[in-house]
Amino acid sequence: MTGTPVWAQVAYLVAAVCFILALKGLSSPKHARAGNLVGAVGAVLACVVVFFYAHLDHLVPILIAIAVGTAGGFVGARRVQMTQMPQLVALFNGVGGGAAALVALLELADAGPREPAFTLVATAFTILVGSVSFAGSMVTFAKLQELMTSRPVVFRGLPVAFGAVLVAALVLAYLTVAHPGSWPIEVGGVLLALVGLAVGLLLVLPVGGADVPIVISLLNAFTGLTVAAGGYVLGNTVLLVAGTLVGASGTFLTKLMAAAMGRSVGNILFGALRGGSTLGAGTTSDRPVRSAGPEDMAILLNYASRVIVVPGYGLAVAQAQHTLREVVDLLGERGVTVDYAIHPVAGRMPGHMNVLLAEAQVPYEQLKEMDDINSEFKQTDVVLVVGANDVVNPAAKTTPGAPIYGMPILNADQARQVIFMKRSMRPGFAGIENELLFDPRTTLLFGDAKEMLGKLLAALKAQ
Ligand code: TAP
Repeated sequence: MTGTPVWAQVAYLVAAVCFILALKGLSSPKHARAGNLVGAVGAVLACVVVFFYAHLDHLVPILIAIAVGTAGGFVGARRVQMTQMPQLVALFNGVGGGAAALVALLELADAGPREPAFTLVATAFTILVGSVSFAGSMVTFAKLQELMTSRPVVFRGLPVAFGAVLVAALVLAYLTVAHPGSWPIEVGGVLLALVGLAVGLLLVLPVGGADVPIVISLLNAFTGLTVAAGGYVLGNTVLLVAGTLVGASGTFLTKLMAAAMGRSVGNILFGALRGGSTLGAGTTSDRPVRSAGPEDMAILLNYASRVIVVPGYGLAVAQAQHTLREVVDLLGERGVTVDYAIHPVAGRMPGHMNVLLAEAQVPYEQLKEMDDINSEFKQTDVVLVVGANDVVNPAAKTTPGAPIYGMPILNADQARQVIFMKRSMRPGFAGIENELLFDPRTTLLFGDAKEMLGKLLAALKAQ
């Protein structure tokens, strides 16, 4: 790295090692907090070092921008509900991609066409992909925050429009790199950014709500690659390393999430363009179901010897994880064997249930991954489904064409009895009816999960 003193390069190396250790720590709930902290220390170090060796122009606006960004990030992260975390990630990701694109635009205007060809390639890539990531992330944010419909937005001619902006993006990138002197290069850069925004918009609009978290992860990978390319343009090692780490981990995460939902990334992105909706009809049937009160359910649980709890998004909404742990602890004290079955996409983001239950100090040994526990449902007396729906919906196995068809599910339908805790007959995130609700072995316990678990706990204690 030219012009960077050795001590600063060593500090950047330490920051890069912090990022790698952070990723390692984040791979298990046991070390996630420590991992997060180590990553934050690395990020602060990387940001501070530059002030001590680079002769920065515009120091005051830079410091003001940092203060505003820090305050906004701090307040936003403190206030956000756990269930709104995907939106926050989308927002942070989008501004990251947008910032990288802006920096590359300025570099292009400053350095001009004399830059070596590879630097121009990296600059054009950063502008284009950073803009795609910014626009795409803003749409995912709007969908999850319900500022717009979460259904796929498709219109006649969308595939043609998407193809056209894609071709325009490639042509503009080629002209920027191959014929940089033939036109004002900054105009080319701005056009490239505008076309990138259009690509991002048209890429994400047709994606249905249930698939949005996966697209956030994909855009996150895009931002990582953009930052890595930006690091090359600026000659900054730490950006190169951090961007590559984000790009690689985002790509893996996208593939893992898509696999957990039984879909391909191509199907998630372009499924709606081929005519199939990625969101269901949202029907609510008026077929009869069996429901009961907490006292009856407490008797059922008291007589069980093996119970599996299936937590879902509704548990997070109700913030009922502490009361759930109390119920499980009480059953455990009475000799009932209880485990939590964790579906990889339960909730709204990867690891949602693990984090939620870890917060309530549920021992890690009680959290069982889907593949490890799925064969045990057959020998289970009672499955207690708390605010989950899609992850136990047999339509994933039985209904070709359903939005969740092919998604591996927890085999709750194989247990002897199922207690289903939810507020109404409304469907889950995928928007489709759940046949398990109508199964003769299922009893519904209607109400808010926290309130109902509280009543269940009181009824258990009274027995
Ligand atoms: P969902 O299928 O969304 O079901 C959640 C259930 O919770 C709903 O049926 C809802 O019914 C109930 N609920 C909501 N608030 C409640 C409250 N206060 N008290 C009690 N119940 C409440 O959730 P899931 O089973 O966890 O499935 C996750 C979904 O998200 C899947 O479709 C999955 O594909 C999608 N997804 C997840 C991820 C990741 S990585 N986690 C990524 C992409 C997509 P009521 O309204 O009747 O109460």
